[in-house]
Amino acid sequence: MKNMIAPSILNADFANLKREVEAVENAGVDYLHLDVMDGEFAPSISFGDQVISALRSHSHLFFDVHLMIQHPERYISTFIAAGADSITVHVEGNAHLHRLIYQVKSANKQVAVALNPATPLEVIKHIIRDVDMVLLMSVNPGFGGQRFIPEVIPKIQELRDMIEKSHVEVNIEVDGGITPETAKQCLDAGANIFVVGSYIYKHRNDADKKHAIKTIRRAINH
Ligand code: DX5
Ligand code: ZN
Repeated sequence: MKNMIAPSILNADFANLKREVEAVENAGVDYLHLDVMDGEFAPSISFGDQVISALRSHSHLFFDVHLMIQHPERYISTFIAAGADSITVHVEGNAHLHRLIYQVKSANKQVAVALNPATPLEVIKHIIRDVDMVLLMSVNPGFGGQRFIPEVIPKIQELRDMIEKSHVEVNIEVDGGITPETAKQCLDAGANIFVVGSYIYKHRNDADKKHAIKTIRRAINH
């Protein structure tokens, strides 16, 4: 499966969001990771469907929308209408995960499930054939710029085994604390989509952002 970098705009300059997205698009990435947080599921509030919809008309990137919200079933159609190409829902607190997955699939969008660092893989055993991607959090949801939790590495390997045994094609995305070093460790464990927030957006200058993307790309493409 193809290795991808998915820049997360959580630490971008929100006063210049259109330009911030253009900067990574011009640097040649294919994905954009959009972290939606409601101050309930996650301890901070980020942005919602209106921001995504505003960016949609300025970007050709694949919009990878990561919902860290309570009651995602109420908002799935809203985020699809806003321009999401893929919707990720967390397994935590969602008793009807299978129903949520099919809510997204019935709209012909890609669907993913996300697991917080402390959530075991067993909970997705019976839906692994129904999803396009599994997102393994390598930090606790809430903020950009947190430290990578290394226990995710054996979890990635375990997930890769689960996927292979199920004979399905499922992407493994890793999210939180990704640098060239941690990206390489995750790649070796079996991940293929790498969410990168502050490592790119800590730079205000576009050339530096481009260089950061190049450095990650070098780490995951050999
Ligand atoms: C955390 C978010 C992540 C995170 C990535 O709640 O889901 O996408 O902001 O940012 P960095 O790369 O800075 O950890
Ligand atoms: Zn995320």
